[in-house]
Amino acid sequence: MTEAKSKVDMEKLVSLCRRRGYIFPSSEIYGGLSSCWDYGPLGVELKRNIKDAWWRAVVQQRDDMVGLDASILMHPKVWEASGHLEGFSDPLVECKSCHLRWRSDELKNDKCPECGGELTEPRLFNLMFRTFVGPIEDEASVVYLRPETAQGMFVNFENILNTTRKRLPFGIAQIGKAFRNEVTTGNFIFRCREFEQMEIEFFVKPGTDKEWFDYWVEERLKWYMSLGVRKENLKLRQHTKEELAHYARECYDINYLFPMGWAELEGIANRGDFDLVQHAKFSGKTLNYYDDETKEHIVPYIIEPSAGVDRTALAILCDAYDEDIADGEPRALLHLHPTIAPIKVAVLPLSRKETLAPLSKEVYEELRQCWMTAFDEAQSIGRRYRRQDEIGTPFCVTIDFESLEDKQVTIRERDSLRQIRVPIDSLKNTLQTKLDGEDLFVLPEGGKIWKEG
Ligand code: GAP
Repeated sequence: MTEAKSKVDMEKLVSLCRRRGYIFPSSEIYGGLSSCWDYGPLGVELKRNIKDAWWRAVVQQRDDMVGLDASILMHPKVWEASGHLEGFSDPLVECKSCHLRWRSDELKNDKCPECGGELTEPRLFNLMFRTFVGPIEDEASVVYLRPETAQGMFVNFENILNTTRKRLPFGIAQIGKAFRNEVTTGNFIFRCREFEQMEIEFFVKPGTDKEWFDYWVEERLKWYMSLGVRKENLKLRQHTKEELAHYARECYDINYLFPMGWAELEGIANRGDFDLVQHAKFSGKTLNYYDDETKEHIVPYIIEPSAGVDRTALAILCDAYDEDIADGEPRALLHLHPTIAPIKVAVLPLSRKETLAPLSKEVYEELRQCWMTAFDEAQSIGRRYRRQDEIGTPFCVTIDFESLEDKQVTIRERDSLRQIRVPIDSLKNTLQTKLDGEDLFVLPEGGKIWKEG
């Protein structure tokens, strides 16, 4: 992590997320559980939208990728073969005075950052959570909560090859929970003990790995930008030889400018043949690929773009957070891209008067068939607009008394505050085109500009 220059205040963002139902501390009524978080009604939609966008881009829209959902608990040999049992550790020191524990590789000097006390010698601490299968808690029944989803894809390489008849190059994609008993935590959802990963294992012919590695670095950068993350807040960082993981030949981090500084959002590694060779060795199975062109058996190399759902959510929220003046009043807003905004449209009757209710409900019922739609009739229209702005809803549809006569409603755009008035008959199609990115002032038949912003 490097010096902070981000314009976003993490405390404000955390407060918005809590207040509006994006993210809560886990088990809050018991005082919370360190580095575990619960996604509330809006947070769960945001995460689903991020995962859906990723799946669409890397599986649905490609011929060379298939999906997988492997189990979290795996045979313990997996972690021997992968090197996690031996090497997935952080060096831990403890303060002899206040007994707080620290990662020694993150300390600026050899004193306790909390009280200045003397520290113990570093001792390696394995980050995997251990548990047991079955009723007997002995060494023979030890299993681990997976610290990454990747291994599920390596051990299923042969199954996928045999059942899908894919030819190289092809990839497997998986989204799922991972668990790490992190020593250093904090920074909200940046580093959690339970989190979600979106990982790709892309199998290629040795010799074409460099080309595919460069390809995936570009693809993944473009994906973040397609969801509205600003280019200037993203940068690539190449791992030095010394910091490369034991399995990696080359690795780049896609870093994001978080409030606490530049930090890893996604890692892209060239893992060579390490994983298939290791699992072949430990399982006794032959994990290779018959190349029809050269008539040879080869062990594919693997390119791995590995992203975190929680970190993507944090980057997207940081990037979207803004404060400005709207209609003479300060407002906080999230400029969320429509693809990932939890609520796409809010239907707001101008007043609670009963005469507006039937038409408002009719419009609401129609729109909610297409998108996550909110209905809000409490408090003044200005306050309701602010509420929707603060949670990032791109469009508000207002039904007023004139709507009963002219069968038209207004659409208000969150970012520009511009409004148009359109026939209810074309509302659904108009909203779809606006959510797809068309300028608000491109009008449907019978529509008119209502407010310049
Ligand atoms: N299979 C490779 C792998 O797991 P990693 O760099 O350790 O590589 C990949 O993790 C991504 O998973 C990270 O870039 C980050 O987005 C996410 N991630 C890792 N540890 C995390 C944690 N403790 N909390 C939240 N996200 C985490």
